[in-house]
Amino acid sequence: MPKQFPFSFIRKKIVKSDQATVPIQCKAVQYGLGCFTGIRGHWNKTHKNLYLFRLKDHYQRLKEAAKILGMKFNYSSPKFEELIFKLIKKNGAKEDVYLRPTLYAASTMLTPRFDNPDDDLAVYMISLKDYFDTTKGLDVCVSSWRRFDDDMMSTKAKITGAYASSALAKTEALQNGYAEAIFLNRDGKVCEASGANIFGIKNNIVYTPPLHANNLNGITRRSAIELFENEIGLEVREEEFDRSTLYAFDELFLTGTAAKVAYIRSVDRKIIGTGNMGKYTGKLKSLLDRISIGEMPRYAKWLTSVY
Ligand SMILES: Cc1ncc(COP(=O)(O)O)c(C=O)c1O
Repeated sequence: MPKQFPFSFIRKKIVKSDQATVPIQCKAVQYGLGCFTGIRGHWNKTHKNLYLFRLKDHYQRLKEAAKILGMKFNYSSPKFEELIFKLIKKNGAKEDVYLRPTLYAASTMLTPRFDNPDDDLAVYMISLKDYFDTTKGLDVCVSSWRRFDDDMMSTKAKITGAYASSALAKTEALQNGYAEAIFLNRDGKVCEASGANIFGIKNNIVYTPPLHANNLNGITRRSAIELFENEIGLEVREEEFDRSTLYAFDELFLTGTAAKVAYIRSVDRKIIGTGNMGKYTGKLKSLLDRISIGEMPRYAKWLTSVY
């Protein structure tokens, strides 16, 4: 169990985390009506500072999610940042953290609709190092569950209730002895993992499914594309690929705020490349690790320091 911090934010106030609760009748509980993001903060003990990764981009994606859903999100970017800072400082966090801002439907009325008067922002935080064990490579499977299309459920908003889809795939994968599940979309093309985007490398070209393949517009995905193009010097192709292409990549890895850069050792028990972390995956991982702790001034634009 990751360490929970003692304070959370709810109903416009910082409260003890065990008081940050919602009534059972509320639409967030009953129908999963809400949207969220997950933000990482990395502690640099030499700088004695905590760096939040791409905070403004997380704000922007959350705001857009609220707009897609028709929810009320009454926070400007500076107000949002201010409350995140206040919460981190109140918790006295001086370690790697993961923050979970969720805009949830607080309404306790019966009808499942998004245009309620009482949407509320809640934020909790935990201490988080690696979500996956990134030292040994992931054994993943292609899920028997397909990813929904954007005209069934928005794939661009991180919708609370939509994570039932991820949970179905993840549960099946774990129960069958895999660490993670890869979704195909309705067209049978590779989409993403249950909570991360996917990249493959073949003959020094990087491939990742385009956003219209129904994956999330991941902030780590965007960062990886930029770093491959501008720092590592590889061509990136955002194009669809098939299940069999997956097995034949030289390198395969996941990206996500929680997942970071996690290499895939096998898909459906077929070993990818040598089964070890690929050269370019390793380069990306170490670049992102250095950037996240403020050790690459060129990318200070991606960081917000707390202290
Ligand atoms: C379904 C899904 N895809 C992709 C991602 C990766 O997105 P990001 O890099 O913004 O965390 C996540 C995690 O947030 C996710 O839940």
